[in-house]
Amino acid sequence: MNILVTGGAGFIGSHTLIELYKAGHTAVVVDNLSNSNPVALQRVAEIIGVTEIPFYRVDIRDREGLERIFAEHKLDACIHFAGLKAVGESVEKPWEYYENNIGGTLTLVDVMRGHGCKNIIFSSSATVYGDPAEIPITEQCPKGQCTNPYGWTKSMLEQVLMDIQKADPQWNVVLLRYFNPVGAHPSGRIGENPNGIPNNLMPYITQVAVGKRQELGVFGNDYPTPDGTGVRDYIHVVDLAAAHVCALQAIGRKCGMGIYNIGTGKGYSVLDMVKAFVKVNGVEVPYSIKPRRAGDIATCYCNPSKAKAELGWEARYGIDDMVRDSWHWQRQNPEGY
Ligand code: NAD
Ligand code: UFG
Repeated sequence: MNILVTGGAGFIGSHTLIELYKAGHTAVVVDNLSNSNPVALQRVAEIIGVTEIPFYRVDIRDREGLERIFAEHKLDACIHFAGLKAVGESVEKPWEYYENNIGGTLTLVDVMRGHGCKNIIFSSSATVYGDPAEIPITEQCPKGQCTNPYGWTKSMLEQVLMDIQKADPQWNVVLLRYFNPVGAHPSGRIGENPNGIPNNLMPYITQVAVGKRQELGVFGNDYPTPDGTGVRDYIHVVDLAAAHVCALQAIGRKCGMGIYNIGTGKGYSVLDMVKAFVKVNGVEVPYSIKPRRAGDIATCYCNPSKAKAELGWEARYGIDDMVRDSWHWQRQNPEGY
């Protein structure tokens, strides 16, 4: 299939491009580069052995820009990564988050249907479960109260896409609820490249390890978890990327509506991650315990068996691979791209 990949220059998008080409698909990337660097796309092209990947520096809110892309390419489906994703920033700038994420998706979907392209895979998030009603989280678990506008954009866009599919069953819509993506391509050529101070645990750890930051702050050690620190379902980004290829196969089988948790099903604490990083990579990661971060929950990990049963997908990489590949990328690219 020929796939429109929105946000394809970003962290998850760039890794997914590799898995798409490996599976025999081709891609056209649209990205406004608001949170990414075009060097990522050059490196993806090197890894897959093509001269370049068709790329449009276009904002998904730009209807004419999208129309031009659809006029120039026959596109079978869209994998829709483009969006703003910084939780804290979304609290400061809610309008910008709703306008970019929701406005952008509404425009994208409208242009898609205008061109008869009614297949979409959407990047959703475990955040839609709020403080989850059950652990491990299954897709049956009710959606919850999000603690920030970013989370609400995901929750609302899920509803928008479900309603569109219900009204027009020609649509195939796959919502992938990602848990905590970490790691990098094993080549060390592409990886996570946050702007400024990282919000997320793994890029913070790698920046401490490489000497860019003094120490990791561990946000709370008094949660009801085995060691008191927050527990999450970390998933290697290459596994996550592969889930999109499986979702495309489901679209090929005319799946209609599908919702899947994409995680490993294993929960690791902040200190588990730090210890694994130190053990596998032989580097120090100084840390100190800080107060809890507002909005954080104690424990979040999924039951990924629906994705295995219906998509034939399951995670293959473990915690040691995640910490090894995260470090490999950071060490080779101390300043990012
Ligand atoms: P990322 O910021 O690296 O990638 C997103 C890309 O979208 C960036 O390249 C950015 O420039 C682009 N973009 C943003 N707004 C755009 C617009 N209006 N038009 C065109 N391009 C635009 O983020 P990522 O980690 O690769 O995440 C990809 C998707 O997965 C996002 O939708 C994110 O919300 C979702 N997600 C991420 C995580 C995570 O922890 N990384 C977890 C759950 C869900
Ligand atoms: N943490 C620290 N120190 C840090 C950063 C994080 O102790 O410097 C802790 C957090 O308190 C939490 C764990 O590490 O216990 C993971 O935190 P992240 O910020 O890496 O990830 P979150 O689970 O908070 O959030 C991630 C994504 C969100 C998404 C959410 C649910 O960043 O976009 O998963 O899918 F909404």
